[in-house]
Amino acid sequence: MDYKKYIKIVEDWPKEGIKFKDITPLMANGEAFHSAVDEIVEYAQQKEIDVVVGPEARGFIIGCPVSYSLGVGFAPVRKEGKLPREVIKVDYGLEYGKNVLTIHKDAIKPGQRVLITDDLLATGGTIQATIQLVEELGGVVAGCAFIIELSYLNGMDKLKGYDVLSLMRF
Ligand code: PRP
Ligand code: MG
Repeated sequence: MDYKKYIKIVEDWPKEGIKFKDITPLMANGEAFHSAVDEIVEYAQQKEIDVVVGPEARGFIIGCPVSYSLGVGFAPVRKEGKLPREVIKVDYGLEYGKNVLTIHKDAIKPGQRVLITDDLLATGGTIQATIQLVEELGGVVAGCAFIIELSYLNGMDKLKGYDVLSLMRF
């Protein structure tokens, strides 16, 4: 499927010089969203995934239907101060801004195979931080799946040695 026609590019948002890739038209189209989720599910099915992990907020949109379809659990990675129990955390830089990500300490058991999902790979800061959290808990990152990869920001450089699926590239 040609997913690109469902992505709206918004100039200078949220900051000047950023060309924001809006996935909401893709999500709004039942056929396109279903197809995108199914492609990620198919990718994950060969990887014996135990748990899907997605970073707040847009990683939830992709990760939850994927985990539901795989019949495995979903563990949220959230910005600081959002998870109620004991967490581990990591600082990360992103395309526009800086942040802290956290995960519950018991979200992943050592040796569990993890699929990480997000809408977008830009600089790779978010996925790198998410991988760090998963690995610190002893999880094995079996794959990373994105709807969009912004090749010109070289996020793939941070994913050397990991298995990655992107449904489209800009
Ligand atoms: C966006 C996007 C990815 C991340 C990609 O999230 O959803 O998670 O940026 O950028 P990177 O590869 O440079 O890290 P954002 O932090 O804007 O928050 P949101 O998902 O809560 O909207
Ligand atoms: Mg995000």
